[in-house]
Amino acid sequence: MPDIIGIIFNTPQSASTDSMDVLTQVDAIERSLNILGYRPVVIPFTKDLPLFIDRLKRESVQMVFNLCETVDEDATLCGHPAAVLELLGVPFTGSPSMSLMISTDKMLTKQVVHSSGILTPESVLVNHPTNLNSDALTFPVIVKPQFEDASIGIDQNSVFTDPQALEQGIHDFTDRFGSVIVEEYIDGREFNVSLMGYPSLAPLPLAEIDFCRLPENLHRIVGYRAKWDPTSLEYQNTRRIFPENLSPRLQKKIENTALLCSRLLRIRDYGRIDMRVDHEENVYVLEANANPCLSPDGGFAAASQKSGLSYDQMVAKIIESVQHRISPEPMFPDSKALSQESSPKNHFL
Ligand SMILES: Nc1ncnc2c1ncn2[C@@H]1O[C@H](COP(=O)(O)OP(=O)(O)O)[C@@H](O)[C@H]1O
Ligand SMILES: [Mg+2]
Repeated sequence: MPDIIGIIFNTPQSASTDSMDVLTQVDAIERSLNILGYRPVVIPFTKDLPLFIDRLKRESVQMVFNLCETVDEDATLCGHPAAVLELLGVPFTGSPSMSLMISTDKMLTKQVVHSSGILTPESVLVNHPTNLNSDALTFPVIVKPQFEDASIGIDQNSVFTDPQALEQGIHDFTDRFGSVIVEEYIDGREFNVSLMGYPSLAPLPLAEIDFCRLPENLHRIVGYRAKWDPTSLEYQNTRRIFPENLSPRLQKKIENTALLCSRLLRIRDYGRIDMRVDHEENVYVLEANANPCLSPDGGFAAASQKSGLSYDQMVAKIIESVQHRISPEPMFPDSKALSQESSPKNHFL
């Protein structure tokens, strides 16, 4: 059983709350691993690969808890730490690099899920204001960065009710983020489906965002302020709830969509799918999080807690998933040799 677990994370480049959040996760996971009897070693992941590999070796790391959301704040590199671990043969928690790389691209994610019949709002990709063509879209629309996460770049000004306003406003978004998605705004309920387990994921209790206390003049979205600014009206009036009033039919539809989506994207151990449901109960996938935030006050931990797991038990389950992957139970007595052969080799051991 692995004893020394490396906790790897991206080093924040700014003091903004969303950047610093990864440090909250590192602290919480380190604390839990200590409580669970492991020996955690905290190791930053930067582009200095020789230094990183040297630390892994020197500390005799046997398994990694991967908390990297970016490399040096570049979200397009979020899968690269996992890719390095895959090449080194070091077992790690969470989704494989391929899954992280696909899901960090919101447009690619939409195309993958759409190709299997899952609904996702109609959208166009815009990388320069002169390329904007929203003729095929029904307004209102919302503009969001192709690669960011954590509602970065999303606020009340991201929603446009007519093409003229969008034409005037799009510059600001392409200047700040390069490629942005202009997507039909889905008016309706918002659900976050957390999933956990290995080899197959199972949905945790469905979380919904309760917008009912948000003033009428504000768009019902979970923008940057709603996620990160506790003093804002948006933060205080977009509560996470676990609805009791869902019809079994709608619940199944949402869960099945999340499961299919996570399978298509090869999400592993834990993940979260964000969705909106319109007034006809059409379920739309907004985005998939192959490495959702594991802060104690985040959505994933809240859903785990709702399912009856403490934070430490949640961490233990994630570690169990990796252990299961390293030494899977043989399905048939003589398949043991085969399963050992296919388990990853840790070149450090
Ligand atoms: N098509 C959409 N219709 C309505 N609201 C949306 C839509 N896309 C995003 N939003 C709102 O913006 C929030 C953040 O968007 P999301 O795609 O989940 O990106 P991220 O959470 O990675 O920043 C969502 O939780 C939702 O409230
Ligand atoms: Mg989201």
